[in-house]
Amino acid sequence: MKIAVTGKGGVGKSTIVGMLARAMADDGWKIMAIDADPDANLGSAIGVAPTRLADVVPISRMKDLARERTGAAETAGSHFILNPRVSDIPDELCVEHAGIKLLLMGTVDHAGGGCVCPEHTLVRALLRHVLTRRQECVLIDMEAGVEHFGRGTVEAVDLLVIVVEPGERSFQTARQIEKLARELGIARIALIANKVDGAADQTFVRAEAGDLDLLAMLPADPDVRASDRAGRCCYDLSEGVRARARQLAEIVVKRVLDEPGRLSCAS
Ligand SMILES: Nc1ncnc2c1ncn2[C@@H]1O[C@H](COP(=O)(O)OP(=O)(O)O)[C@@H](O)[C@H]1O
Ligand SMILES: [Mg+2]
Repeated sequence: MKIAVTGKGGVGKSTIVGMLARAMADDGWKIMAIDADPDANLGSAIGVAPTRLADVVPISRMKDLARERTGAAETAGSHFILNPRVSDIPDELCVEHAGIKLLLMGTVDHAGGGCVCPEHTLVRALLRHVLTRRQECVLIDMEAGVEHFGRGTVEAVDLLVIVVEPGERSFQTARQIEKLARELGIARIALIANKVDGAADQTFVRAEAGDLDLLAMLPADPDVRASDRAGRCCYDLSEGVRARARQLAEIVVKRVLDEPGRLSCAS
């Protein structure tokens, strides 16, 4: 399955993708995690040591590879010949940690038509062409928005998760993303509310979510903050986070498989 996670900056996308990736990998899933946010921090959220991250060459710097795998830049995508399995992603493209293969997209210059550049094309092509079998999952941590997705890519995404926090601004962003995602034809769109602190927040989130499919409300968690202060991964440091990550992974997987999930990791 392929799951994309988006939402306003700072809402907790990377934290949540990191939790899902670790919990699913611990449950025996083969995970490919793609950090497609220019403000890249998925590596630390997964728990990769900074020294190892420094060695990874982001896809955006691998111009030759991107060209080679996508055909000429002008016809990018049409000559894509690679049909890798999650387990076959070439080592030079990723760093492996805790059973997760992490790919970094890196920063891309958006001036000059970033959407058709080979780097974005490679990420789109990866999403489209990576074959996932049972117990294999591609998780993509994105910037706010789905603008860089073409139709062919969104069709490949089984679930678009929009992360929000209890505040009007992140919901505004979520509604914009949802509108565009629906126009693009993404079938399954769901919300995860993060940093929910008490009853007033919960009431606010339920009211703002309206008809949107609210999968879970995750509490504002002092363990997550403490881990971040220590520059460590919260999944490594907190049993509470691990338990919540397991519940969240179960809900998300059930949603993709269209089995009714429960709002069971509410604060
Ligand atoms: N449930 C939570 N409780 C407390 N702090 C959180 C929680 N989730 C994320 N954070 C903190 O919020 C900040 C932004 O999280 P991050 O995952 O980097 O967001 P994004 O990837 O959406 O920009 C980080 O400092 C992170 O530790
Ligand atoms: Mg992030």
